[in-house]
Amino acid sequence: MKPSVGILGAGSMGEIVARGLVRAGWASEDLTLAARRPERAREAEFRTGINTVLDAAQAAQGKRVVVIAVKPRDVPVLLTQIADVVTADQVIVSLAAGITLALYEEALPGIPIVRSMPNTPAAVDEGMTAYCGGTHADEPAMSDAAAVLGAVGETIRLSEDLLDAVTAVSGTGPAYVFLLAEAMTEAAIREGLPHHAAERLVHQTLRGSGMLLAGSEKSAFRLRGEVTSPGGTTAAAMHVLEEGGFRALMEDAIQAATHRSHELGEAATERFRS
Ligand SMILES: NC(=O)c1ccc[n+]([C@@H]2O[C@H](COP(=O)([O-])OP(=O)(O)OC[C@H]3O[C@@H](n4cnc5c(N)ncnc54)[C@H](OP(=O)(O)O)[C@@H]3O)[C@@H](O)[C@H]2O)c1
Repeated sequence: MKPSVGILGAGSMGEIVARGLVRAGWASEDLTLAARRPERAREAEFRTGINTVLDAAQAAQGKRVVVIAVKPRDVPVLLTQIADVVTADQVIVSLAAGITLALYEEALPGIPIVRSMPNTPAAVDEGMTAYCGGTHADEPAMSDAAAVLGAVGETIRLSEDLLDAVTAVSGTGPAYVFLLAEAMTEAAIREGLPHHAAERLVHQTLRGSGMLLAGSEKSAFRLRGEVTSPGGTTAAAMHVLEEGGFRALMEDAIQAATHRSHELGEAATERFRS
């Protein structure tokens, strides 16, 4: 049976999850969204078909799963709004970057908490979400949280100390791919391809390569080897990328994002406690 879900925060991620749950077969009567402004509530209700209220406590009350989809800075106020209505037979699923399980457990003693890091391909049911459970999150709670997060893509259960790295890899990852798409498209145009053709070639190449990689038993290294013949075109391109430090740059980028995620988490903790 699908757990009932209250989604607190009807912004980008809240709407992505809401729409994903509807696509995955959740009945709209089992879903409630909460916004804080009437215009946002009207827009969200129009776009998702889900009852959207202006009272987070009302959206959370009695729901098996309560998804926290507000910005990290808005989490403390939200928790004060729902603290009196949430109970130990519910599970709070946080999407908020940097807000730790310990902070939730301080604010909501005894309540099962699941912390997660999704990404935006969830909008097309191809998300990647890592999640971890708090002290009171038993297996049924973890499983209901995973069902909700899994409605918009793949899920992986990891320990909380890895979430900064997850943020840098899959949370931020779509931006690396979009940058690659921009750079490839610009280069294609410089080689004389019309703009629309360049975009189609690049977008479908990224989609096809991603699907091939995800659906194949072979490693990225092996798949790359299969399109690289000695002295060929791929070998010429790979040489330029390797010589130009592509790998080192990617390593630095992911390290910088991991570090920044850690810093933002510390700042969120300080704000939360102040
Ligand atoms: N976007 C991403 O790529 C991504 C990826 C992974 C995780 N996340 C996490 O997802 C969370 C949401 O991010 P987002 O990009 O969806 O932000 P967003 O578009 O700003 O949406 C947050 C929404 O929550 C509403 N809100 C704030 N406080 C509220 C309250 N007390 N009651 C009801 N609604 C309230 C905001 O209202 P207003 O419209 O009035 O501001 C806003 O519409 C963040 O914590 C972020 O860390 C996002």
